[in-house]
Amino acid sequence: MTEQAFTPPTSEWYQPDPALVAAANVPDYEAVYDRARQDPQAFWAKRAEELQWYQKWDQVLDASNKPFYKWFTGGKTNMALNALDRHVKTWRRNKLAIIWEGEPGDKLSLSYWQLWQEVNKFANVLRGMGVKKGDRVTIYMGRVPEIAIAMLACAKIGAPHSVVYGGFSEQALASRIEDAQSKVLITCDGAWLRGKIVPLKNTVDEAAQRSPVVETVIVVKRTGQDIHMEGGRDYWYHDLMALPIAKPRAETEIMDAEDPLFILYTSGTTGKPKGVLHTHGGYQVYTSTTLSWAFDIKEEDRWWCAADPGWITGHSYIVYAPLILGATSIIYEGAPTYPYPDRWWQLVAEYGVSILYTAPTAIRGLMRFGEAWPQRHDLSSLRLLGSVGEPINPEAWRWYHRVIGREQCPIIDTWWQTETGGFMITPLPSVGLKPGSATRPFPGIEVDIVDDDGAPVGVNEDGNLVIKGPWPSMIRTVYGDDERFLSQYWAKYQKQGWYLAGDTARRDEDGYLWVIGRNDDVLKVSGYRLGTAEVESGLVSHSAVAESAVIGVPDELRGNKIFAYCILVAGAEGSPALEAELKAHVRHEVGPIAVPAQIEFVDNLPKTRSGKIMRRVLKAQALGQPLGDLSTLED
Ligand code: WTA
Repeated sequence: MTEQAFTPPTSEWYQPDPALVAAANVPDYEAVYDRARQDPQAFWAKRAEELQWYQKWDQVLDASNKPFYKWFTGGKTNMALNALDRHVKTWRRNKLAIIWEGEPGDKLSLSYWQLWQEVNKFANVLRGMGVKKGDRVTIYMGRVPEIAIAMLACAKIGAPHSVVYGGFSEQALASRIEDAQSKVLITCDGAWLRGKIVPLKNTVDEAAQRSPVVETVIVVKRTGQDIHMEGGRDYWYHDLMALPIAKPRAETEIMDAEDPLFILYTSGTTGKPKGVLHTHGGYQVYTSTTLSWAFDIKEEDRWWCAADPGWITGHSYIVYAPLILGATSIIYEGAPTYPYPDRWWQLVAEYGVSILYTAPTAIRGLMRFGEAWPQRHDLSSLRLLGSVGEPINPEAWRWYHRVIGREQCPIIDTWWQTETGGFMITPLPSVGLKPGSATRPFPGIEVDIVDDDGAPVGVNEDGNLVIKGPWPSMIRTVYGDDERFLSQYWAKYQKQGWYLAGDTARRDEDGYLWVIGRNDDVLKVSGYRLGTAEVESGLVSHSAVAESAVIGVPDELRGNKIFAYCILVAGAEGSPALEAELKAHVRHEVGPIAVPAQIEFVDNLPKTRSGKIMRRVLKAQALGQPLGDLSTLED
């Protein structure tokens, strides 16, 4: 059973304005898709030639040990070479790389030259503290420019970063530090959100206690409140950046194309964090190609990806791909509705944003406040709009298109995952659109919708979404756990060698793809990705809870909301007070995004005879639907 109520395919078509298509600097979809299919390796080699390499690759694709594919083997590069070093040698050194606005209204912009210098300084600081190529660095920060600086500095010295979203709490942070074994942690004293301070450093202190592997904590001063600084462990970023060692020039480490660039933890079917590993070479090629074609990035654009750098969307499309393309990327620290529901529209007008990329949940959230708020601002700079993270319901699509896009901006609905690194199913600006469909696969990508045996399903029938061939920014492995990589993504269609996405989808009579939602134990709540197991382990870490099960049920605003069922330990009594306490506990342990909307106290849970919780039964029950096949139920 999937997480999302299905939106039936519609016959509603939106054809792009011919003038926009004529001005777009992107290839014709059909022609380029065909070309890529005929010779994918030649296609990707041509894309890779757009970038700089210290040394060219010997082989585009090494498929000798499937599914551990390798791309551009023998090639030498570094993300920092293409995202920064090459730009400062051209006129782009004077172009704005990052425009940042803090929630309280403070502003900062960095040219490519300035960003390059800051990154070099911090790279020297990290090296000075003993961080070497291959060492993992955990980053746990708010949306400040220093998060991009920290990521790029790690890339520059060849130390894979592991960014943990600032909305995660103690247990989530500690287990990610532990898994990556990072000795160095970069954080902020706090982050501004809705006029309040999120106390990031307190969480770090608690996590570091649970995870003693951390030896050094570097703290960016953002909010300025009093915090604890542990002697011999904690250092202020600004103090380090003022040291003589922080020189504005730094050597870029020459990396193999397949050397790790970062680990990003994401949710899977167990509570243990799953570190998705991406590398320097293929990831650069794929993210820059997809951004350039799907969003037609032009030199004069102001690109605003309103995600958080702590998720894959922020990694690929706030930080890395825009910088590779030499674009200007906007980062806003706070909430869309703070202090008023027009904060985003004010930012669009103020900075002349030409492309806005966000999640359906944000659109639905802003829609609630009505059209008057956006109408108060001049949004005429917008040329394209984008959507990501969950299926966009046609109603939100139409509002976004009409009210924000003045019926003139195509909506680029991009389907992809942490594991895919970049857009997999997406229109190009020249492609006709249907609200709610991400349209067709990106050139070089072949997808299908199949049944459990791998047979393609019929038109408009539900099936498993699979990806049929390798692509340059594909997940290389689960960090430290090749077995899990194989069992999670490749075991189901081992015979065919297909990648299992974990989503249910349909293809309509025009060949358009409709992603319906997850069909595993992964939840999408407000576009955020969470595992049922993460929430469950948060609940059972409370002394009153013996066992728990968590499901997602459709919610108009958030896409899904979390329902939890708890069996209490002997002697504990369910009550509204305990429910409130458990919610607070999950908030503290896992994070605010994991807090269940509702907790029910039960005496037992539906299980299979082998002891697996049947969430499908709980869900059908919660939705008042037929319970389906119960033959495997234990009791
Ligand atoms: C869902 C986010 C429908 C999907 C980039 C996928 C989408 C999961 C879309 C990955 C979309 C993402 N339409 N569903 N345009 N984009 N999804 O790893 O269920 O946080 O498997 O990556 O988000 O979530 P993740």
